[in-house]
Amino acid sequence: MRSMQERASSENARHDELLQARYGSQGRPASVFVNPTIETLLAHKSVRSFLAEPLPEGAIETMVAAAQSAATSSNLHQWSVVAVTDPQVKAKVWALAAGSSGSNNQFIGQAPVILLWIADISRNCEIAAAEGGDLVVPDYLDAFVMATVDAALAAQNAAVAAESMGLGYCFIGAARNNARELADLLGLPRLSYVTFGLVVGRPDNSKPATVRPRPAQEVVLHFNHYDGKQARESLAGYEPEFSKFREAAGLPKMTWRESVVNSMKFSYMDGREKLRDTVIARGFLLR
Ligand SMILES: Cc1cc2nc3c(=O)[nH]c(=O)nc-3n(C[C@H](O)[C@H](O)[C@H](O)COP(=O)(O)O)c2cc1C
Repeated sequence: MRSMQERASSENARHDELLQARYGSQGRPASVFVNPTIETLLAHKSVRSFLAEPLPEGAIETMVAAAQSAATSSNLHQWSVVAVTDPQVKAKVWALAAGSSGSNNQFIGQAPVILLWIADISRNCEIAAAEGGDLVVPDYLDAFVMATVDAALAAQNAAVAAESMGLGYCFIGAARNNARELADLLGLPRLSYVTFGLVVGRPDNSKPATVRPRPAQEVVLHFNHYDGKQARESLAGYEPEFSKFREAAGLPKMTWRESVVNSMKFSYMDGREKLRDTVIARGFLLR
């Protein structure tokens, strides 16, 4: 049996390894509180290569139980999720979510499931209408934001649950590339739209994903008031980590600043410029 001291020292080494992978040689927190939940969070990496194996029995239901355990605005549960497992439907989802960049999201076809997370105020609007209530709030932008935030929180809980079960995942914002067609494919009611997808499966470890470093905490963490100067200055330390990651992952050379510039170009949208028109047509007035 290992002594308590040995256990503590191997845990410290593990925490150090996790923080090293996340921040590299940038400044990083001197110590973080670590437990199995936080270890799972710190070790996160998006997976884009999957084995053609079904998920273990109960995995989808476990992820949805985790998702339903997330906080939800005013206990209103304004989200839904469609689990697409049928290869033919999945192929159509992929065709609608194929983008012009990187992997083109072809791994949607490989993985056993894509969960489509839906901001959904349709159920509650139906209830209020049946009760003869005034449907005022749904016309406002805030109703759209509330449902979108609810869907995102639920999905992130499901994602963490997936990783804790040894599964891999990748979010798919490209599910909004053709939001109208995807809503039609899934038979969504009005007052709902697919916010993003989440591909889940068993990672193909012959093409392992690596942890993508993050900028130092000073870039995102402010105490009491926003300090843009500190954030700008601290960002300089991110470029070497970003380059190292790209090189190790076999990705073409690019600075992080260049990736930011690219993300602002029209070509980056891949159809998502139509999203506002689509959600308005689906009943969100965004007042
Ligand atoms: C809302 C959202 C949408 C995303 N959409 C895509 C996508 O369409 N395709 C893709 O390959 N990755 C997508 N990603 C994954 C990000 O590229 C990834 O999280 C980011 O590069 C950080 O890498 P990491 O998750 O491995 O730490 C998305 C992530 C989020 C949060």
